[in-house]
Amino acid sequence: MWKGRFQQETAPAVQRFTESISFDWRLYRYDTEGSIAHARALEKSGLLTGDERRQIEQGLRQIGDEIEAGTFAFRPELEDVHMNIEAALTERIGPAGAKLHTARSRNDQVALDLRLYLRSEVDAIGRLIRNLQRALVGLGRRFQAAVIPGYTHLQRAQPVPFAHHLLAYVEMLQRDADRLQDARKRINIFPLGSGAIAGSTIPLDRAYAAELLGFPALTRNSMDAVSDRDFAAETLFVLALTGVHLSRLSEDFILFASSEFRFVRISDAYSTGSSLMPQKKNPDVCELTRGKGGRLIGDLTTLLTILKGLPMTYNRDLQEDKVAVFDAVDQIKLILEVYAGMVNEIDVDLEQAKAAAADPALLATDLADYLVLRGLPFRQAHEVIGKLVAYSLAQKRGFAELNLSEFQRFNEKFAPDVFTVLNVERSLQNRTAVGAPSPDNLNRELAEWERRLNG
Ligand code: ARG
Repeated sequence: MWKGRFQQETAPAVQRFTESISFDWRLYRYDTEGSIAHARALEKSGLLTGDERRQIEQGLRQIGDEIEAGTFAFRPELEDVHMNIEAALTERIGPAGAKLHTARSRNDQVALDLRLYLRSEVDAIGRLIRNLQRALVGLGRRFQAAVIPGYTHLQRAQPVPFAHHLLAYVEMLQRDADRLQDARKRINIFPLGSGAIAGSTIPLDRAYAAELLGFPALTRNSMDAVSDRDFAAETLFVLALTGVHLSRLSEDFILFASSEFRFVRISDAYSTGSSLMPQKKNPDVCELTRGKGGRLIGDLTTLLTILKGLPMTYNRDLQEDKVAVFDAVDQIKLILEVYAGMVNEIDVDLEQAKAAAADPALLATDLADYLVLRGLPFRQAHEVIGKLVAYSLAQKRGFAELNLSEFQRFNEKFAPDVFTVLNVERSLQNRTAVGAPSPDNLNRELAEWERRLNG
């Protein structure tokens, strides 16, 4: 493509070093669609005849179909997807093909392709997130009555409905979906017409081409447009954060599926065995999700590190952006898909959950609240119950097994009704603030998510 200026062939090692066709070939649909819009803009400016434009369009469609069918022969010496497609087009249709690159550079072309790719993938990922949210809400609904100990510092804290725990992740995923939609606004800006760096002396109707491809806005600075990858960086941040959220959920499921907790069972279809230990059933989907969370953070770090050293404007370093972007998109899609399937088949061990949630220590805060409602300042109540907990542990008798006079040794405000506090259902029943897990609130939240996710 640059033979005019050069007298020597590129060294074979350099060809292997600089090629990107081995990974950017997958932009082919966006490349042909982008070129078709560009050809129409060229026609509108009188730089292509209607006939030339039609030949180009037909040729590009045919090439796209061949790539899709796997019958197109890519040539590594043509470096990238843009030059492979353009060269094939010119071979097929001749002079009209050679006119396609008028008023365009690969710099604005690749920026366009990447934006088209991410716009489409962000939508696909949004749908997958929604699908996983549906699975989590479904699991919560199936086991709506299940109560487990809630944990802070991985120490038993207070009883919570299992579904309330799951809905925490539905909230996180919703923020991820919202963040993706927000990133999409900055992805969805049309860079073509920026040329290599400073636009072109050949006037083209950028707005017309943008409209053909469904872009609501044009980039406003040609230098920024060819070197900006912010839209990719923020998308990768959202994917990394989604990965982090699912890594945390995985950690919960790994713990909950262990013999130590035994709150949930992950189905055989989503577990793996050990080649050595016959008794093992391992939560590998969760573990790999946790591992891939690290990989997604790596992809974001790769991209940011590529960007941080770049002087204006386009530098070849930017070719490496796609390695990180494609990997992050592929991995998050894999995770989301397999995860929804796994969640749909998770089973809760209701008896085990109930036994764990019956730990009387979980109601210590409720006892402190009891004293507060009878006039004791909370700090004092906290101390009284602290002593009572120590006593109960030393006695190896839970609160419910103590008698009233024992309670009253710690504070005279204790009355016979203290025993009504020692009840998990009642404890949850009273948690009625917005965001708290009373059964009514939980039911309303599940219904609200079902409405939102299925609407
Ligand atoms: N394959 C290149 C990339 O992905 C396309 C742009 C090349 N531009 C250039 N001036 N060499 O970034």
